[in-house]
Amino acid sequence: MEIKEIILGEEEITLAVRSLARELNRDYSGKGEVILICILKGSIVFASDLMRNLNFPVILDFVAASSYGSSTQTSGVVRITKDHDNPIAGKDVLLIEDIVDTGLTISYIKKLLLSRNPKSLKICAFLDKPARRKTDLNIDYTGVKIPDKFVVGYGLDYNEKHRNLPYIAVIE
Ligand code: IMP
Ligand code: MG
Repeated sequence: MEIKEIILGEEEITLAVRSLARELNRDYSGKGEVILICILKGSIVFASDLMRNLNFPVILDFVAASSYGSSTQTSGVVRITKDHDNPIAGKDVLLIEDIVDTGLTISYIKKLLLSRNPKSLKICAFLDKPARRKTDLNIDYTGVKIPDKFVVGYGLDYNEKHRNLPYIAVIE
């Protein structure tokens, strides 16, 4: 698998992150503390850029989920391998995801977290591949919609590789 084409460069990424942060600042400032729950591992690069552009108080937390399936395809059967540390009942929660593909992973996590009675729960995803959606999931905040191609970089991996690339690229 080789890097084929850069589809989002560093500057475009910065602009997309700032624009998402503006939306979030508009909707959340003045409401108090928000728990950011980042989905490991892919979302950490995006989350670290995003949170430094937010002007409301945040608590940082993580969940890790592993889905059974091949390296480029989700099966929809999700197992939580690391749960969040902070209680979320009565709290405003923002789920931070790197990419929504079929939507099965985030739908499962959303359902689980909703059962813990947060005051609100919204989804913020850096990338969205709407062509592949298998659930009628609503993404509250989307950075960039991309075509149905497998991408790496900016936290995203192929078999754990390429997460450190500062841009988003298609591999083949
Ligand atoms: P979903 O459950 O099909 O929405 O898959 C979501 C997860 O699959 C993401 O959190 C990523 O870890 C991974 N994923 C989906 N598409 C890509 C891609 O193009 N590149 C890298 N990882 C991806
Ligand atoms: Mg992954």
